[in-house]
Amino acid sequence: MGAELQKPLIASNTPLSGNFPITLTINGTEHTVYIEPRVTLLDILRERLGLTGTKKGCNHGQCGACTVLVNGQRINSCLTLAVMHVCQAITTIEGLANDNELHPLQAAFIEHDAFQCGYCTSGQICSAIGLFNEGHAQTDAEVQELMSGNLCRCGAYPNILAAIQDVRTQMSVEAPGEPVKACYPPVISFDE
Ligand code: FES
Ligand code: FES
Repeated sequence: MGAELQKPLIASNTPLSGNFPITLTINGTEHTVYIEPRVTLLDILRERLGLTGTKKGCNHGQCGACTVLVNGQRINSCLTLAVMHVCQAITTIEGLANDNELHPLQAAFIEHDAFQCGYCTSGQICSAIGLFNEGHAQTDAEVQELMSGNLCRCGAYPNILAAIQDVRTQMSVEAPGEPVKACYPPVISFDE
C-alpha cells in the first residue's frame, strides 16, 4: 500500500553524532528540525513539535500508545527513527479531524464511551484506521486479534471494539495523507 521506506544516505565514514536538518511532513505541514540521527519519531513529535496527542507508554514497542500512520500504515513511533520518515506522509491524532469535524472514528469512540483515562486512545484510533486500510478485520475476533498490539490499561476493550466495528461496517475509510512527491532523502554529513 504505502511507498517503500526511503533510507537516508549515510556515508560509511560518517560519525553518527551531531545535528543535521530533516524535513518531515506531518498532518500535511512540513516541519524542518535539526536532530541527531538516533532520535525517534515519537520524541520529535512530542518534544520538538508539541504534538503530544501521540503518547509515550512503554517506549519499547509493547503498548501501542505511540501509534501513528505513515503513508496510511500504522507504526509504533517509539520504535522508528525520525530520519527514516523523510518524504513520507505522517499522520497523528491531531491530523484526523477535518477542521471542527471529528473523524468518524473519533466520534464513535465518544459515542461508545470507548475510553476512561484516554491515555491509549490516540494510539487505538490511529491503529484502527491503519487496520481499515489493511483491508481485513471482518469479524470481532479479527479486530481483537489485529488490535492486540494496542493495550488499554483501563480495560475499555468491549467499547473500543464496538466503536471500531460501528465505523468499519458503516463506511470505507481512506488512508489519510498522500505520499509526499518530489522529495529526496537527506545526505547526512558532519564535515563541519
Ligand atoms: S510507547 Fe511505543 S509501543 Fe509503547
Ligand atoms: S482508556 Fe485508559 S489506558 Fe485505555
